[in-house]
Amino acid sequence: MKDHIVTTDVKPQVEAFFDEATNTISYVVKDPASDACAVIDSVMDIDHAAGRITYEHADRMIDYITAHGLSLEWIIETHVHADHLSAAPYIQEKLGGRIGIGEKILVVQDVFGKIFNEGTEFQRDGSQFDRLFTDGDTYSVGGMACFAMHTPGHTPACMTHVMGDAAFVGDTLFMPDGGSARADFPGGDAGELYDSIQKVLSLPGDMRLFICHDYGPGGREIAWETTIAEERETNIHVGGGKTREEFIAFRTARDAQLSMPKLIIPSIQVNMRAGEMPHDGQGNMTLKVPINALK
Ligand SMILES: [Fe+2]
Repeated sequence: MKDHIVTTDVKPQVEAFFDEATNTISYVVKDPASDACAVIDSVMDIDHAAGRITYEHADRMIDYITAHGLSLEWIIETHVHADHLSAAPYIQEKLGGRIGIGEKILVVQDVFGKIFNEGTEFQRDGSQFDRLFTDGDTYSVGGMACFAMHTPGHTPACMTHVMGDAAFVGDTLFMPDGGSARADFPGGDAGELYDSIQKVLSLPGDMRLFICHDYGPGGREIAWETTIAEERETNIHVGGGKTREEFIAFRTARDAQLSMPKLIIPSIQVNMRAGEMPHDGQGNMTLKVPINALK
């Protein structure tokens, strides 16, 4: 962890945008000292049955950024999402900003490039993104110092982004009563996920933690903000000092019961291209459905 850059005195303004269709929370994070902002984990709307994409959710974020006179510097993906499609290129076209993801996107592109039997036109070097973050990489939003922490396990490319006193954890942790995300996608690993969670929990206890998905367990209201201290004490999967062995046994058994996310097939194809739809060689946007290829 970069102790020198963990400055919980800097408190960015965080605006959350909940997407009901996919239970995703996207964020606009504003530097408290300037008009600079970042977008985290945007959503493109898809009617999969109809093969139709639209941008209501992204437009809400764009309208917010425009209405507040903010300048968009970064469009960050915490990982290659399997349950929603990114709107990063659409937002970039309207507002600018650089699209960033973890450098292990190369692993994800390699694994899923094979599963989707992609041709050579699909580059597996991360070049679809403007910035590939490595573990401990620093960057800034306006004057606010930020850093990226590699937190694999849910997927190989998962990163947690720390901006002042706020950490954006992607799917590495859910709210304390939601636990953690699955670790059984290709390239996922329950032991790695446990280690990554410990890394996140070693951040300062009063740091605000913003999660990427919430399903309102037990019928409670949708929520997305907690603290590192709360997660350490009460997270149902790892809180209160659960051991690595206990976590791996639990996570592996649970994951074996889960079916694939509804949108995994379109999501991966689009998100591993930084949010661009694949084309069929004649300029048409087309998605593939590989048969019996996802285990
Ligand atoms: Fe995810």
